[in-house]
Amino acid sequence: MTRRVAILISGRGSNMASLIEAAQAADLPAEIALVLSNRPDAEGLERAKDAGIATLAIDHKAFPDRESFDRALDAALNEHDIAFICLAGFMRVLSDWFVERWSGKMINIHPSLLPLYRGTQTHRRALEDGVLVHGCTVHFVVPELDAGPIIAQAVVPVVPDDTEQSLAARVIVQEHRLYPQALRMICDGMARLQNGRVVFARGWDAGGTLHSPSTHQ
Ligand code: GRF
Repeated sequence: MTRRVAILISGRGSNMASLIEAAQAADLPAEIALVLSNRPDAEGLERAKDAGIATLAIDHKAFPDRESFDRALDAALNEHDIAFICLAGFMRVLSDWFVERWSGKMINIHPSLLPLYRGTQTHRRALEDGVLVHGCTVHFVVPELDAGPIIAQAVVPVVPDDTEQSLAARVIVQEHRLYPQALRMICDGMARLQNGRVVFARGWDAGGTLHSPSTHQ
């Protein structure tokens, strides 16, 4: 069964593009039915249009408060008969009302191994701490920012000469792999939210580790 998915963006939309590509390649039991931005000038809107996807801009500045913006968002999503929402660089905090309404049906990608480095400047903070692994996380969205139950994570090494830019570049490659994989997991029922935790439909191989520094060198 193909699920109708909306992607919410505010910026360049590279994760959005990876989700569109995976859905169009029929790698996902999902149809990207709508790309919605709170910023009419978001670069990603053009990319989505070029890929033949319906787009909508709902400018948050046109609304007196968070709640009325969120109600307009919710109405648009219902009009398009959306089953799941992917936040992909969506830079608006959503109200508890909206988050509860879409509970178990809304996921986000975050550029760190949560629960480390919630919020912004994740790569800079990882470098400052001297961690030797870093990565990205897809999680269900809950009212507390970047605190939702974890669906999938990808890990990358941090190497001695890394800068914020080189580390970000290494992480985003994995974001583009991880997000379609996680969306597949919720569309096909492999992962679902139950009583505030992710329940997985099956287990998986516990073998395979990442050593950083690599043990192969
Ligand atoms: C990504 O790093 C994502 O993890 C974070 O915002 C960024 C969005 O980038 N939530 P893009 O717009 O998908 O290129």
